[in-house]
Amino acid sequence: MFPERVVLVGFMGSGKTRVGRELANRLGWRHVDLDREIEVREGVTIPEYFERHGETAFRAIEAEITPLFTAASHTVISTGGGWVTNPGMFEALPSGTLTVFLRVAPEEVLRRVSVGPGRSTRPLLAGPDPAAKIVELMAARDPLYSRAMLAVETDRRSPRDVAEEICRNMQGGEWQTKHDVDSGIE
Ligand code: S3P
Repeated sequence: MFPERVVLVGFMGSGKTRVGRELANRLGWRHVDLDREIEVREGVTIPEYFERHGETAFRAIEAEITPLFTAASHTVISTGGGWVTNPGMFEALPSGTLTVFLRVAPEEVLRRVSVGPGRSTRPLLAGPDPAAKIVELMAARDPLYSRAMLAVETDRRSPRDVAEEICRNMQGGEWQTKHDVDSGIE
């Protein structure tokens, strides 16, 4: 069975937005970026939202809007890096959803968020020691990201290359096999 939708998870700077856009283009599907949807809905940027309302309120919105987009077919959804910390998110995804973990090394995150829009758009890395914060958050979150059906390396790879690998897995049905093994289905 070909997946009906794809949900991308992974740390800040793993390329969820760019890979999501690329993958959706290749498939001719709709691309939804949850951070962007929150910004449009709330009328503020993510850093502004964090400053005014804090992380707990942000997580509540993330959890609230997710089903609005995961109900649709032919959609690639890029989540925010902390989406996985909301309880029950994986469990609530409809069947036919391929979840993909975009892996990235801490040094690569630091490099990616230090150039371009970078740190200013990531309130959780805005403190005095972003390198230590990346290591700390990643250690806590890796087990959650690893619950995705498929894991793809992104270090030193273009979004296009990563999207191609995901496409290949979708077509080959490997994602389904892995999920069946994980969930105990023979
Ligand atoms: C967050 C990641 C951000 C954004 C918010 C919180 C996180 O998204 O949702 O700043 O907790 O890791 P990206 O992963 O797209 O940077």
